[in-house]
Amino acid sequence: MRLDRFLSNLPHCNRADARLLLAAGRLSVNGQIERDGRRDVREFDHIELDDETLQAGKPARYFMLNKPAGVVSATEHPEHRTVLDLLHEPDKHELHIGGRLDLNTTGLLLITNDGLWSRRLTEPRSRLGKVYRVHTEQPITPEYGEVFARGLYFAYENLTTLPAELQILASHEALLTLHEGRYHQVKRMFGHFQNKVIGLHRERMGPLQLDPELAPGQYRALSAEEVALV
Ligand code: URA
Repeated sequence: MRLDRFLSNLPHCNRADARLLLAAGRLSVNGQIERDGRRDVREFDHIELDDETLQAGKPARYFMLNKPAGVVSATEHPEHRTVLDLLHEPDKHELHIGGRLDLNTTGLLLITNDGLWSRRLTEPRSRLGKVYRVHTEQPITPEYGEVFARGLYFAYENLTTLPAELQILASHEALLTLHEGRYHQVKRMFGHFQNKVIGLHRERMGPLQLDPELAPGQYRALSAEEVALV
């Protein structure tokens, strides 16, 4: 929300009052005087009028988890354990998942209370590469790479997948980089060749690599530097 809007939503402050307060330099955001009412403020910002706190600003929280198989990428589920059950953190209901994984897919999962940040990470427009290590039932041939690079037509969504990069590592193992996240996308892409995916592990999302120190089921907070990369 814009700062001028935030101010004029306060009791006893209309738009003209908000303009005057801003022009007089009486507002500060995160410790800095702010005179521009067009500036966006979020629930994480600390906003003061003179020395009075108008909004304390709650902490933004970011975690990376090594998701084990058999745990659902959801905040609630009637049958299975969810990834949130693996987090020992307060106010878990405020957290959401940036880019879900299927029940049996393992690897990098990012969990946060910052919706703008997770959107930047997952929306196809950002074109951030998500890297998956894939193990298959049948051998993988170079033709797969050509087809994935051109894009595959998904009739159900009536779309063609964005160009994806395949690096074949062994007869039944490859790294696949996607720039979007369609439903069961990796499995459907290999399914085009009637080749079943028997192991799927996400290693990277854009600039963030799964920490090799994290065993399946373990998680840690992201550093400020990692958060700023997205
Ligand atoms: N593609 C899949 O098929 N499953 C996942 O969990 C992620 C990508």
